[in-house]
Amino acid sequence: MSNLENHKFGNLFWVTTRDGNKRLATINADPGKKVYTERLLTEEGIEYRTFDPYKSKLGAAIFKKLKTFPLTKGSKILYLGAASGTTVSHISDILGDEGSIFAVEFSARSMGDLIVVAERRKNIIPLHADARFPEEYSNIVPQVDIVYEDVAQPSQAEILDINVKTYLKDGGYFFLAVKSRSIDVTKDPKIIFKEVIDKIESFGLKIIETVNLEPYEKDHIMIVGQK
Ligand SMILES: C[S@@+](CC[C@H](N)C(=O)[O-])C[C@H]1O[C@@H](n2cnc3c(N)ncnc32)[C@H](O)[C@@H]1O
Repeated sequence: MSNLENHKFGNLFWVTTRDGNKRLATINADPGKKVYTERLLTEEGIEYRTFDPYKSKLGAAIFKKLKTFPLTKGSKILYLGAASGTTVSHISDILGDEGSIFAVEFSARSMGDLIVVAERRKNIIPLHADARFPEEYSNIVPQVDIVYEDVAQPSQAEILDINVKTYLKDGGYFFLAVKSRSIDVTKDPKIIFKEVIDKIESFGLKIIETVNLEPYEKDHIMIVGQK
């Protein structure tokens, strides 16, 4: 039996480790280097990085049977809330050198870590900016295929709307990771999720699926839509 299988989404793989566990993985665009606590595994001369669903909400959504996966070689992505680059690095593996990730982060500390990752990979453009004010990066960011947002802020729906309207191509996709506790710790997460979904729809954005990220991320959903 092969230790390597293609995932149904392109540029994603299942790698079986020595302990017999099947792990999601991407091909490491920076061989020999880890970005977080992922494992590096070589199969048939190619190095893979395990994609940990407990460390990445995109990874969690894939494990929870996400249906929409428009990320492909050459895609252009505007990524809001890049932090130190955990998920960004896997997207970088998936997109290849022809793709671009415009990675926005406003914390100076996280930005330092993100720059270290970006310096070793050709397709990450780190932007130290506030996603509430998309005009801050208008001289750098073009029209993109995907807007991905994971800022864990109460104003996340408004941030999505303004960035989608400014930068997303018609027919492009958006992803929004929603953490209910970032909005209101006292309210039932289900009520919060419904309020966020209603708000996004009231902005005229079309939602195509929502994925609950339990057990990888407690009280989180991923909302996916198309412009
Ligand atoms: C939950 S973390 C992101 C984790 C990351 N997406 C990953 O999967 O590797 C949220 C990040 O959003 C950033 N953030 C919050 N509000 C922001 C804003 N208005 N503009 C840019 N970054 C923001 C925070 O500094 C933090 O690093």
